[in-house]
Amino acid sequence: MTRVLNSFKVRAGNKILDYRLGEKLNLNQVKLFFQKNYQVKKLWNGSRHVLGILTRNNVDYFLKLSTSEGISIFTKNEHKWNDYFNEYTKVNNYLVPKNHGRGYFQKKYFYLITDYFDGKLICEINGDVNNLVVHIDDIILLSELIQKMPVVESDYRMRFINKVNSWFNDIPSSICKRYKVKTLLDIAEKGVDGLSSKPRHGDFTPWHIIKLFDHRLGLIDGEHFLPDGVENYDICFFIQRVFSVLKNPIVARNIYSQLLIKGYKKNKLKTVLAARAIGGFLDESLIEKSEYNFASRFKDWVMQLD
Ligand SMILES: Nc1ncnc2c1ncn2[C@@H]1O[C@H](COP(=O)(O)OP(=O)(O)O)[C@@H](O)[C@H]1O
Ligand SMILES: [Mg+2]
Repeated sequence: MTRVLNSFKVRAGNKILDYRLGEKLNLNQVKLFFQKNYQVKKLWNGSRHVLGILTRNNVDYFLKLSTSEGISIFTKNEHKWNDYFNEYTKVNNYLVPKNHGRGYFQKKYFYLITDYFDGKLICEINGDVNNLVVHIDDIILLSELIQKMPVVESDYRMRFINKVNSWFNDIPSSICKRYKVKTLLDIAEKGVDGLSSKPRHGDFTPWHIIKLFDHRLGLIDGEHFLPDGVENYDICFFIQRVFSVLKNPIVARNIYSQLLIKGYKKNKLKTVLAARAIGGFLDESLIEKSEYNFASRFKDWVMQLD
């Protein structure tokens, strides 16, 4: 049975929804709906969305259709992120899809139509990390570019700590005990005062960066965008993903070293990495065959950073 977790709840008016769970939509009906305005070139089921390639006047567009009301909230946020990035970032070497359309399928499933990025992910979720090593400088620059966009005043520290606490509370207590996860929470709570607020993409991973056929990098899937995150969140998220999901501590440490060479402060990085280590234990607890080897190694690495 799926555990009901506070970490993945989202409020919509007076309803509390889960943003992980999708429904099975009828692809034929989806096709008929979009055929009114586009040629439907391809349509498939992703994990939480129906995805597709739509064509009009010989131009391809990407379709991302939510499969529940909870998911819709996050897909709407992705629409906001696409606009935000394209309004404030006037560079042309890093791309985020521009929005071309939005609406509702069957009145409740939000969809988004954007630029189609023709290229290859720099590394798939089960892929070979060595493919992304040549992009490390660019990845860091892209995370810095995001942080240069305007930030909105808010109680970002409180929100960050609440979120990290909700991850912590959703980890099975036996695991928290066995791996002493609380020590990570103490680091995050102590360090948060030293963090400033910056915009974040929020799901900054190798499998959301596409190397376009013209060699530029395109960043997709901004569902977790915040205009007021904590600084360095994206690059720390990336490091944790490389370490524990792609299972490559060497490349993860290499990215961290590059940050130190650029003058990033160790204690600030440690604060966000500790928070992400907690997220890593939660992620691991949610998969079918949890084994905490990399979550635990990531924790040990973060703990000895000083
Ligand atoms: N703008 C785009 N252009 C081309 N392919 C895309 C685009 N956006 C997403 N994709 C493809 O669809 C997949 C899922 O998209 P993603 O935004 O990560 O969805 P989800 O939120 O369901 O994870 C990506 O891995 C990528 O292959
Ligand atoms: Mg994704």
